[in-house]
Order: sequence, then C-alpha cells, then structure tokens
Amino acid sequence: MNILVLVGSYRRHGNTEQLVDLIKEHLQKEADGMKIPLVMETVYLGHENLQFCRGCRICFDRGEMNCPIKDNLLIIKAKMQLADGVLLASPVYVDDVSGITKNFIDRLAHVCHRPEFFSKAAYLVATTGSSPTGKTLATMKMALRTWGFYIAGQSGYKMGALMSQVETREKFTIQTAQDAHRLFQSIFQKSHLRPSFYSLMMFKIQQMSWQMEKDPDTIDYQYWQQRDWLNPKQTFYILHKSSWFKIVLARFTGLVVKKMMV
Ligand SMILES: Cc1cc2nc3c(=O)[nH]c(=O)nc-3n(C[C@H](O)[C@H](O)[C@H](O)COP(=O)(O)O)c2cc1C
Repeated sequence: MNILVLVGSYRRHGNTEQLVDLIKEHLQKEADGMKIPLVMETVYLGHENLQFCRGCRICFDRGEMNCPIKDNLLIIKAKMQLADGVLLASPVYVDDVSGITKNFIDRLAHVCHRPEFFSKAAYLVATTGSSPTGKTLATMKMALRTWGFYIAGQSGYKMGALMSQVETREKFTIQTAQDAHRLFQSIFQKSHLRPSFYSLMMFKIQQMSWQMEKDPDTIDYQYWQQRDWLNPKQTFYILHKSSWFKIVLARFTGLVVKKMMV
C-alpha cells in the first residue's frame, strides 16, 4: 500500500506536522498488524517549489503539461497518481485552509474538469487554535471530492498556538488511531467502489454539463468522450458497486440540480 501525506503548513514541527506524524505511526501499526507492506511519503507543500496560479487558464484549455509555471506541481501530482490514498492536512488560517493549501488546490483546478483520482481514498485533517474546523475541512473536501477521491473521513483538532509533543500524544492518540484506521481500511476495502450519493450526483451534473458542451474540440470534452463518460449509461467514472436505488436517486437529484443551475 502506498500513502501520500500532504502537509499544508509552513511550520516544521508545528501542530499539523505533529498530528500527521501521529497518524502516520498508527497507519504503520495498521499495516504491520495486517502484514501489508506500506510505503508512506510526506510532502511539505510549503517547502516545495509551488508558485501561485496565474489564472491564464492554459491548464483548462490546452492541458496542464502546458502550464507556463515550471515548478514541482506535476511532480507532486504524479506522486498522487501513484498513491492508493492521500492524507491532506491543513492548519486553520482565518477560518479556512492555509494559503499554502489553497494554492495547491487552485493549481490542481484542471482536475475538477478532468477528474482522475476516482480509484483512491483521501482523509482530511485540520488543526486549529480554538475556532471550528468545519469550513477548512469543507474546502478540502469539496476539492478532493471533485477530483474524484473517495473521502474516507475527516477530523478537526484543537491545538492552541503550539501544543507540545507530549500533550499531543496524550490528548490525541485515540482520535489519530481512528483516523488512521479509517483511511487504511478504506484503501484496503476499496471503498471507492461504493461512491457516495453526493459523488454519484456530481458525476451526473458534470456529465450533463459536458454533454451540453457546444465545442467538441475542447480537451475537457475530449477527455470525457474518450473515457465514454458522456454515454448516458455511465453512472460514474468507473464500474462500481452502488445499489441501483442509490444510483437512480442520485442521478435524478443531479438532473434536478442541473436544471435549476441553467
Ligand atoms: C495566520 C494564522 C491564522 C490563524 N487563524 C486561526 C483561526 O482563524 N482560528 C483559530 O482557531 N486558529 C487560527 N490560527 C491558529 C492555527 O490554526 C493553529 O495554531 C494551528 O494548529 C497551527 O498549525 P501549525 O503549527 O501546523 O502551523 C491561525 C494561525 C496563523 C499563523
């Protein structure tokens, strides 16, 4: 099993890194317990060469390989493609994700148009001084779900300005063990084969959007067409095991939502 950990905090040995380290320890225990070889890599997004999105739209219109910014984005994306699962962690900055995390999400905006992570699970973590983590987790969830990830779960941690390692371990051993268990089991049990109602609905909405596309020469349209995703019989990016009741209801809801959007 291969898990990629993405840390959206600049502060080394800060709350987010400490928390992620605990989850990594528990992931290793899960793997050892089941005798499954585990490869984990951690990418500290704030210490990578990741420049700001310039809004040129070249990734949308001509493909991400033509992005004028030559930095580490596509290297990190390749690591995501190789991983079975991703753990994304961000501190709360003014009630939302850190700028580092948001820039990473923005730079991968093309994946919202051309999803590619539908055979992978993701777990989301937010650390905060004291205020709620809901908005931060929602920002990450919206992006990763749109990229295709199955969201195995999410957790928020109140840690003040800087919690000592000892206190972090004392307070959060049980919760981080649960996070690790949920991510590990989600990958192991291939939960992505049972996409959520929301993901099925969003697929229908995106499918209808691209079916209505007037210009079949766009790379987005071709991406969807080449994968047969525009075929009305396609109910998700991949063959999946959802019940027909859930599929029909999700597609009907998607249809209604899309009609309301037009
Ligand atoms: C720029 C900045 C903005 C912050 N905004 C909030 C906030 O809105 N609410 C809150 O409770 N804590 C806030 N905090 C505290 C951090 O969310 C918290 O200490 C977090 O665990 C720090 O993680 P780190 O050590 O990995 O950077 C902020 C910290 C910084 C540096």
